[in-house]
Amino acid sequence: MADWPVSEGDRRLFFPATQRNQAPIAEVLAHWLPRQGQVLEVASGSGEHAVAFQRRFPGITWQASDPDQDHCSSVQAWIQHAGLKGRMPRPLQLDVRTRPWALPLAASDALDAVVAINLIHIAAWECCESLVAEAAQRLKPGAPLVIYGPFRRGGVHISESNEAFDQSLRSRCADWGVRDLESLESLASDCGFTEQRLELMPANNLMVAFSR
Ligand SMILES: C[S@@+](CC[C@H](N)C(=O)[O-])C[C@H]1O[C@@H](n2cnc3c(N)ncnc32)[C@H](O)[C@@H]1O
Repeated sequence: MADWPVSEGDRRLFFPATQRNQAPIAEVLAHWLPRQGQVLEVASGSGEHAVAFQRRFPGITWQASDPDQDHCSSVQAWIQHAGLKGRMPRPLQLDVRTRPWALPLAASDALDAVVAINLIHIAAWECCESLVAEAAQRLKPGAPLVIYGPFRRGGVHISESNEAFDQSLRSRCADWGVRDLESLESLASDCGFTEQRLELMPANNLMVAFSR
């Protein structure tokens, strides 16, 4: 992940992967998201996904968030750059581990989706536990928790590149790593999610949605 500001005074960050995965993720979201409602994105990073998805899904209010102040500033800069200032709420500085999530009233207890892209392998497993448990409490019945990223299946990596990526993550932080899909499924089930959708994505990623 590279992140650099375009110029002094412009707080927009650029995460190159977002340019590659944005369109395929949007295609799946088009089938999984409702036409209208409140979507909370956690770990929004640069905000490039957030503005792209707000444009693509105009009936939705896309609430971006991230614990990192620079990332929140970037999200807001992208919102301004995209001319979406009057349309999108300001990003929330939200760490998924800090529960209950402090959400604005409009999005507090009846979310229509929670979206987490490329978070759970690059954070401690505790983050995933908080994400799934809190989403289970905040989502409307039938509304999805959508998670995108690399996964192991049946205890094995699904590609050599994922295995190398896993090793590089673990060398950067012992708590990080490509997760087992089955561990996530078991966690979701423990938190009351009963339905699951799964999509194979480019570059050996998966997109999974849980609802109840
Ligand atoms: C690999 S980046 C992904 C950003 C963006 N979703 C994307 O796909 O470009 C991981 C993001 O997770 C955020 N993050 C790390 N720990 C977090 C936590 N505990 N709660 C919420 N977000 C977290 C980081 O600040 C960072 O923006």
